[in-house]
Amino acid sequence: MENDAETESDILSAATKAVRDAIPLAAADPGRPVYHFHPPAQWHNDPNGTIFHKGWHHLFYQLNPYGSEWGHMHWGHARSRDLINWEHLPLALGPSKDKGEDHVFSGGALPGPGGKPLVFYTSIGDARPPEQWLTEPLDDDLIAWKKSPANPVLTLASHGSLQVNEWRDPFPFREGGVNYIVCGGNLRSSGGQAAVQLYRAENPEMTQWKHLGPIFIHPDRAIWNIECPNLFRLGNKWVLVISPHGPTQYFVGELDLKQPRFLPERQGILDPGKSYASNISVDGAGRTLFWIWGKTETPAGKGWNSVMAIPRVLSLSDIGDLKQSPVTELDRLRQDERKIPDVSLDNAARKIGSGDCLDLECTLDVGPNATAGLRLRGTEILFDPGTGTLKVGDVAGFVGKSNRVQVRFLLDKRVLEVFSNNGASAIFQTVDAWSGPAEVELFARGKAAFSAIRLWKMKPAAMNLSRFA
Ligand code: FRU
Repeated sequence: MENDAETESDILSAATKAVRDAIPLAAADPGRPVYHFHPPAQWHNDPNGTIFHKGWHHLFYQLNPYGSEWGHMHWGHARSRDLINWEHLPLALGPSKDKGEDHVFSGGALPGPGGKPLVFYTSIGDARPPEQWLTEPLDDDLIAWKKSPANPVLTLASHGSLQVNEWRDPFPFREGGVNYIVCGGNLRSSGGQAAVQLYRAENPEMTQWKHLGPIFIHPDRAIWNIECPNLFRLGNKWVLVISPHGPTQYFVGELDLKQPRFLPERQGILDPGKSYASNISVDGAGRTLFWIWGKTETPAGKGWNSVMAIPRVLSLSDIGDLKQSPVTELDRLRQDERKIPDVSLDNAARKIGSGDCLDLECTLDVGPNATAGLRLRGTEILFDPGTGTLKVGDVAGFVGKSNRVQVRFLLDKRVLEVFSNNGASAIFQTVDAWSGPAEVELFARGKAAFSAIRLWKMKPAAMNLSRFA
């Protein structure tokens, strides 16, 4: 269905109706995850404008109200007190067709004058180059938004003679009393020169911006482009997270705002699985929260596609690697705890439980030349001490060269998130399409011991629809 409505409120009402109409179909799918955040229905991708404001975690997201595949980008909106139970709110942003805007692409939020959250996003017009736009909330609940009369607040012309391709995804941040934005893109679309550009606000209202230069050019020339850069302080370091059309990567280092340059010291794959396009918020307790789109690759015709990964708390390890653990609030959904006695296996497997929404923790000690793990619905979570990796289905993350690993997995219908060694690695994966409860098995190729095994069933999270209109 095409949207030919003209005014802004018509555009949002038509989009809301289209989402509402798809709710019965989406809700009828027994394979839809129940405790990962998801919109009322239809396709979504990146988390946008994540911000903690007046006691609420606000989550905006890329939404196609008109289908369960990508297209017609709008911003959906929800809020939560505890990061797990959600209240869906009216759609926040739709394309201003009368201003030549066809999509509202990704962006970020930052408190402006008086603490009011301002949102920056990439405005896409099919007939013009991308522009960065500013929009302001008209109320404290961030329900109604007014796009700034100063738009566009940044255009490609800000780069002078520097040619920036695929220019999008503004991520605003404040440092030393100054407001900045980073944007993704590349300097040579034929390959290499994937870059992050830095801009400085020239007035408190953040309607005027100055390009300061590229602060990061990806060292790997095989990476052709950077989407959704997130640049933020973590402990006494700066972290840059990027989405390079492949697994999300992180760089830990220093930010020199005089040159200006981001100087990476360590780097890694943030999540080798099916997650992409992140955002950041800092909550009232000072936790740095990481939000990322989880691709469920749902077959067509189900009325929904994708979830948000469970929000992760970021920290740095003693040696400066990024650590990510699901927020502890998730534990409130645990029920029917089972403590399972230790298991020793020698080239064998043992079933320990079943369910379709589970949380499991255990410790594996794997003997010489052996590998071991857990298996559910056709997918193996395989620990190989030889390579120091934990493999989940077809992707692997490095967990360290030790014969011991602590594993936690979260199963939500076909979504499987796996964390190890208290956040040293995280993988968002999917397992075979939902077909009823999964049998969970421990297995060993060679000798392995499993201890501290705890298994919970997970309750669905609340996804309140009463204010979605
Ligand atoms: C990342 C991305 C962003 C863009 C948005 C469009 O998934 O491609 O670069 O702003 O999605 O939906």
